[in-house]
Amino acid sequence: MDIRIIPLGPLSSNMYVVRRAGILYVIDPSVDPDPVRKAVPDLFDFSQAFVLITHAHYDHIAFAREWSELLKCSIYMSPDDGQLLASGEGNCSSIINGEVKFDLPYKDIYSLDHEGVEIIKTPGHTSGSVCIMISDGDRKALFTGDTLFSGSCGRTDFPTGSSAEMMSSLKMLSTLDDAVEVYPGHGSHSDIGTEKQYNPYFL
Ligand SMILES: [Fe+2]
Repeated sequence: MDIRIIPLGPLSSNMYVVRRAGILYVIDPSVDPDPVRKAVPDLFDFSQAFVLITHAHYDHIAFAREWSELLKCSIYMSPDDGQLLASGEGNCSSIINGEVKFDLPYKDIYSLDHEGVEIIKTPGHTSGSVCIMISDGDRKALFTGDTLFSGSCGRTDFPTGSSAEMMSSLKMLSTLDDAVEVYPGHGSHSDIGTEKQYNPYFL
């Protein structure tokens, strides 16, 4: 499994391009695909592709349509975040980049039946927030969006956020194996064992 971190989205959000067994997973497509394709052309040798979204905030979906058109593949997102797309307040573009309204042709991410990919429901940052686990043999990589950060967790004061749901989502994530690698929507990567040791929101 090849995981590339592209921390160039709005608010320095992390976009991830993962390739496993010839399949491409673009997670939280917040960066223009053209320069990425030119910078890392080797990544674009794939047999099948998916665009996966952890939650419907602008800094995680800004170029979702462009990536899905480029890769000729579907966008997958939780329908619980569908209501956030159509308003600048809902998708938080109004606090970043003026008001951007999205009309994305997405599919229900829970309908994704793909071996080695698990969608974990983790409401709290938004009601439709998910974490995405991609496995490759014994290696497991968890893409946590704005739910779990290295040493912290996401805000719960945006529309549909809930601190109570965030706490129960984090509690559930803390039961995962220590070796699970953690790739957050912002900041550096980590693993579950390190977060159990140092993240105050895991205590
Ligand atoms: Fe967010």
